[in-house]
Amino acid sequence: MSDQLLRWGILATGRIAEKFAAGVAVSGNGRLVAVGSRGAERARAFAQRHNIPHAHASYEALLADAEVDAVYIATPHPMHLEWTLKAARAGKHILCEKPIGMNRGEAARMVAAAREHGVFLMEAFMYRCHPQTAKVAEIIRGGALGEIRVVQAAFGYNKPFDPESRSWKNELGGGGILDVGCYPVSFSRLVAGVAAGKPFLDPVEMSGAGVTHPQTGVDVWTAATLRFETGLIAQVSCSVGVQQENTARIYGTKGWLHVVEPWTPSRNEGRAARLRLHRASATAAEEILIPHQAGEYTLEADTVARCVRAGKREADEMSWADTLGNAAALDRWLEIAGVKYGGEG
Ligand SMILES: NC(=O)c1ccc[n+]([C@@H]2O[C@H](COP(=O)([O-])OP(=O)(O)OC[C@H]3O[C@@H](n4cnc5c(N)ncnc54)[C@H](OP(=O)(O)O)[C@@H]3O)[C@@H](O)[C@H]2O)c1
Repeated sequence: MSDQLLRWGILATGRIAEKFAAGVAVSGNGRLVAVGSRGAERARAFAQRHNIPHAHASYEALLADAEVDAVYIATPHPMHLEWTLKAARAGKHILCEKPIGMNRGEAARMVAAAREHGVFLMEAFMYRCHPQTAKVAEIIRGGALGEIRVVQAAFGYNKPFDPESRSWKNELGGGGILDVGCYPVSFSRLVAGVAAGKPFLDPVEMSGAGVTHPQTGVDVWTAATLRFETGLIAQVSCSVGVQQENTARIYGTKGWLHVVEPWTPSRNEGRAARLRLHRASATAAEEILIPHQAGEYTLEADTVARCVRAGKREADEMSWADTLGNAAALDRWLEIAGVKYGGEG
């Protein structure tokens, strides 16, 4: 780290890399120093758009750049493993897009590499770094909802079928569970944990149903029920072929909380994020506003910078154990939905 600013290298130049780069650009804790792409022209154009001094024509060259402290891995999911392992070997701190790997086995290898090489590693669940998520935890702990018994959370979009797109292609880890289902699962595990006085809980049982695409075998729409040891039950759903409400509700013995925009609370740039607390004793919902501080990608980059500065290797917002537990739950959901990747099966 130079002058206390974390120096970022962006690995891959797709859609989310654009958003993250824009987020770092307005961060007070980091700056963009390099980008790497499989295509020289794409790297150059990305660097120009985001005012990045170094454009590398390969991911290897990015990892060899001595000015880079931390890399943001923004490839499709099946490539996260390879580039996280290589980045750890190169001594770079790592923010890797969700899902961290294709399964729990990959996630465990990535965590082991970060541990071995003494680098920071976090799975990029940006909503965990937003103050709205901390507020939800505070409300649960404060007891306004009573005993938490049910969580409902969904994340799903409808994208026209395209056999070459990341959402649909088997070789690119297509399907909803890995792309967006990972959010409601991580949210339910977080809520179950907070309600039990822990950072997270893993489900003891999962069941559900799913519909896969006849051509590519990826999950198109699916729902699952998670049961936790405390009795809490979560209903989660996701899709690449259905537009859902993309919201979350937490139900307790004294009332319920509607988290209107759980995944992208800063979506309405500049506007406060909203929670609606429905107390069983009240006729109207209470609106709780979380003032806008910064976009979620800026907050995520700031979280990484703060951890690195403090010498931490993992973040409280998304710890390694939390990542491994989430990956295990996703493995189970994929099994329930009948999804197989590559040569599996
Ligand atoms: N946290 C969030 O809000 C969020 C949102 C969307 C996506 N994501 C995650 O971010 C990752 C990337 O998603 P995206 O939507 O940005 O994908 P995308 O637009 O398809 O971009 C992926 C990039 O990865 C690189 N790449 C490397 N190998 C590739 C291959 N075989 N095929 C295609 N691209 C390849 C390409 O960059 P170069 O050509 O420059 O090498 C490409 O532009 C996924 O894991 C996804 O789950 C997170």
